[in-house]
Amino acid sequence: MDQLFSIIDSLSAGVRLSEEQFASLVTHRSDEGDRLLRTRAAAVRDEIYGKNVYVRGLIELSNVCKNDCYYCGIRKSNPDLQRYRLSEAQIMHCVRSGHDLGFRTFVLQSGEDPSTDEAICDIVKQIKTEYPDCAVTLSLGERDRSTYEAFRAAGADRYLLRHETATKAHYEKLHPADMSFEHRMQCLGDLRDLGYAVGAGFMVGAPYQTPEDLARDFVFLQEFRPDMVGIGPFIPHKDTPFKDMPAGSLEDTLYYLSIIRLMLPDVLLPATTALGTIHPLGREMGIQHGANVIMPNLSPVTVRKMYQLYDGKICVNDDAAQCGACLDLRLEKIGHRIVVDRGDRKHRKGDEIR
Ligand code: 5AD
Ligand code: FES
Repeated sequence: MDQLFSIIDSLSAGVRLSEEQFASLVTHRSDEGDRLLRTRAAAVRDEIYGKNVYVRGLIELSNVCKNDCYYCGIRKSNPDLQRYRLSEAQIMHCVRSGHDLGFRTFVLQSGEDPSTDEAICDIVKQIKTEYPDCAVTLSLGERDRSTYEAFRAAGADRYLLRHETATKAHYEKLHPADMSFEHRMQCLGDLRDLGYAVGAGFMVGAPYQTPEDLARDFVFLQEFRPDMVGIGPFIPHKDTPFKDMPAGSLEDTLYYLSIIRLMLPDVLLPATTALGTIHPLGREMGIQHGANVIMPNLSPVTVRKMYQLYDGKICVNDDAAQCGACLDLRLEKIGHRIVVDRGDRKHRKGDEIR
């Protein structure tokens, strides 16, 4: 017990932890330890970001994907899925209504579909020209460095690419042989080189994940120091090879959110939709454990059901305005507020790792 508290103290003091120490945090849980981590994580978040929660408007551009990740509902071998690509007009309509609702960051997400590269450059340019006050985040998977370069030249500010797992052997259990751990890591390095604010992350309770895998995820995040970290519970999708695997847990996800907040005090940390899917108050609890970002869906309601990475995804029937109003209310109840802001990362002074 004392050992656990001393690890939590080191983490709060900005001391680099070893893989063994992270593994210990993962395996030696206690109610008291959980509470201490949560209280400290929320306090650090409050110190840097206050009670302000940043929102990002998520637009699911297309569910066409050339990959076959074993966990993902839009994998190419899912034949029970009508594929779609939003038109430029549809995307700009989402952006306009999002901007009217107060969104100042748009996240353009899709499966891996290289045929859309040029169209995406055009869209990014158009958004940045019409709305220079807004940030554009891309979440389009692995692309060539030259493509990342072109997106950046078009004006994209940030890129989300979860590393999924920092353990090569685990990566290979989640993905078919034509995807590689090395290429994933290469992409993250390229994105950082090109000047993007970069997001990494993983699924909590991903099939075959061990405490050692998680410890390596934390070490990776500690070293790479991403600007954003997206974590959410794994949730099985009925049309995937992992359909019978158990979902990740709420408690674990919340605990890991607190660890990440303490390790990277000024990181942008979303309470994800997957967290809101495994528990009706999951996102609120995520905020209470140190998260400071929420990513409501701005996609046209007509396509939302076709973009299900996992079963039971929330908000598939609500439009953007309904989601916004619902979230305002939910956050107000826990003493937080959504702000109209690009929501850039705040760099805390003196935060260098000791
Ligand atoms: N459950 C939870 N998260 C998932 N993702 C993909 N499939 C699932 C699932 N079944 C996550 C992956 C991916 C992100 C866009 O969504 O981590 O990087
Ligand atoms: Fe599309 Fe994994 S299934 S990137």
